Amino acid sequence: MEKTYEQLKWEMEIIDEFIEKAYEGMMIIDQDGKIIKFKYEKLMDIKEEDAIGKHVTEVVENTRLHIVLKTGFPEIGDVQNIQGRNVVTSRIPIVRGGIVVGAVGTIMFKDVVEVKHLADHLEQIKAHVKRYKQEIKRLNLAKYSFEQILTADPKMLNLIEVAKKASETNSSVYIEGDSGTGKEYFAHAIHEASNRRYAPFVKINCASIPHELFESELFGYEPGAFTGASTHGRVGKFELANGGTIFLDELNSMPLDMQVKLLRVVEEREMERVGGNQRIALDVRFISACNEDLYDLVKTGRFRSDLYYRLNVVSLKLPPLSERRRDIPILTANFLKHFSKERKNGPESISREARHCLEAYHWPGNVRELRNVVESAVSLATSKMITVADLPDYVVKCRSGERLSYSMGATGENLEGTLKEMMDQLERQIILEALEKTSGNRTDAAQLLGIHRTALYKKMHKLGIDHYEDDME
Ligand SMILES: Nc1ncnc2c1ncn2[C@@H]1O[C@H](COP(=O)(O)OP(=O)(O)OP(=O)(O)O)[C@@H](O)[C@H]1O
Ligand SMILES: [Mg+2]
Repeated sequence: MEKTYEQLKWEMEIIDEFIEKAYEGMMIIDQDGKIIKFKYEKLMDIKEEDAIGKHVTEVVENTRLHIVLKTGFPEIGDVQNIQGRNVVTSRIPIVRGGIVVGAVGTIMFKDVVEVKHLADHLEQIKAHVKRYKQEIKRLNLAKYSFEQILTADPKMLNLIEVAKKASETNSSVYIEGDSGTGKEYFAHAIHEASNRRYAPFVKINCASIPHELFESELFGYEPGAFTGASTHGRVGKFELANGGTIFLDELNSMPLDMQVKLLRVVEEREMERVGGNQRIALDVRFISACNEDLYDLVKTGRFRSDLYYRLNVVSLKLPPLSERRRDIPILTANFLKHFSKERKNGPESISREARHCLEAYHWPGNVRELRNVVESAVSLATSKMITVADLPDYVVKCRSGERLSYSMGATGENLEGTLKEMMDQLERQIILEALEKTSGNRTDAAQLLGIHRTALYKKMHKLGIDHYEDDME
């Protein structure tokens, strides 16, 4: 259908308005170089009606538009001086049936400074992106390896072997242990030893995510998926971990409704963003950790048993430090070395008496607590050797409010814990004292205690002090 005059007029007005708004300046010339459109008011004090019909060189003295007419080659992003101002311009030939019938000149920036600002801004953004990329890489890569898990305890050594084997597979690993026993160390080490080591390691602390944000944190969301959602949408932690490892820490804090959703992902290795309908394939290994007996929660219905079994394919139960006392001197020596490096003229050794205190204490905060105590002792020590005076009172005297405690008149020590713990503690102290008196000679110590040498060995082993000859001083 033919367009009416009114329609054509209306369309022309729209095009004119568009040209004015889209460009800082714009002109069209015909095949003779005569101006047929001139929108340069923002740059020159010449009105369109005064320019139309004139040859372009008469109006813009240093123009190259008539040259483009001849060459037929576009010139994009050229800098041209118009009335003392450097502008960024483009000149494009208009070709009809292989013949140049005119040319369009547009001003993209009315000052090169604008381009410089834009370029600087772009450089800044590029630098930011580079920094964020590095940061993401740093955050996502596992920090610890099996070599950093120090232990001499047979149970722990066995767990390391199991974990190393698991790292060669894609099996889900479940790590249980009291706070500070090294669960996170194990999770990092498994990722680091696996063939996913160059892919992301994404930790999700289930206790720190508010319930209502759980789903979007894990799965991400499509633009406008819910009120308050970003208009760009967001990639969730699961997608970020694709190709790598997801570490679900404090798994016991995962809400029941999320457990259902997680089960589907673990079973199908697929997920959907919130508000989306596209299935996204997930290639991840799950490692989870919990500092209480998760099976107890399964029994009371607070944790889904199907999910429990799915995540608990390889199970690692880390013993508390009080059940692997032979690790205390090894860890102490390691932390001492580590923290004294940070302090100029810091202590280099630890007195025998201070060592005994550390070995006798029950360490409810496990390795983390030991690390903190050594760190504080290193900073408090006034000589080259850490002494009892540098240790916290509660470690020296094992004084703690709620636990059973018993003051030993003869030794001046305070014992605490259950009867068994107190007996062990006492027995340990007596043996350590005997060894001290005999300068570490076990035969003499056994004689002093009135027991057979092998009985002493057995007791030392049971009490976790058979490493006694290791001298840290
Ligand atoms: N076997 C180990 N060798 C060396 N350092 C260890 C070992 N186990 C734990 N640590 C130290 O103890 C700290 C606590 O360990 P980690 O964070 O792995 O504990 P966790 O079991 O995850 O504790 P939580 O349940 O409180 O999160 C670590 O930062 C590390 O310094
Ligand atoms: Mg942890």
